[in-house]
Amino acid sequence: MPGAEPDVVDLLLSHHQQIKLLFSQLDAAQGDHKQQLFADLVSLLAVHESVEELVVHPLAQDKLPDGDTVVPDRLAEEQDAKQVLARLHEMGVADPAFDAELLELRDAVSAHAKAEEQLEFLRLREVTDPATLRRLAAAARAAAALSPTQPHPEVPPTATANLFLGAPIAVFDRVRDALSDAMSAGAKETP
Ligand SMILES: [Fe+2]
Ligand SMILES: [Fe+2]
Repeated sequence: MPGAEPDVVDLLLSHHQQIKLLFSQLDAAQGDHKQQLFADLVSLLAVHESVEELVVHPLAQDKLPDGDTVVPDRLAEEQDAKQVLARLHEMGVADPAFDAELLELRDAVSAHAKAEEQLEFLRLREVTDPATLRRLAAAARAAAALSPTQPHPEVPPTATANLFLGAPIAVFDRVRDALSDAMSAGAKETP
């Protein structure tokens, strides 16, 4: 319903825009600022992909007639992106090969996002009750609340800052586990 509160698809689409913006900011950045932007990119991708992995891909697999082929392809692209992030992290932003590899990642992530939008998100709206999609936005908000770059009044920053430290693959795993815990706690509170 136009004008209604955002659903999970709205929030994931807005993540896609933020991810695109971070890639373009990284393109122009140097030194410590570039390092910080790369850490922000890892955090945002960890939050975003966790919501997709725990909420939206399972829903697409269940609801879309071709979910069994669409979803595994997206999961494979997410695994590939994680491996590239890990390589970039090991290289460091000052490595002469960093920028070329980052541009390849940007193109891969952009193609991945486009495929999600066309083959999953917009089609999910056709086959899923709007109230369900709005209710699932709570998972995306819980994930965003974990992020150190999006402080949330109910979550002290020190409680979640450690989630985002270290190598990207460990960050992704910790964020996914934290979101999964937050979702089960939320489910217990809502009978
Ligand atoms: Fe994704
Ligand atoms: Fe996505």
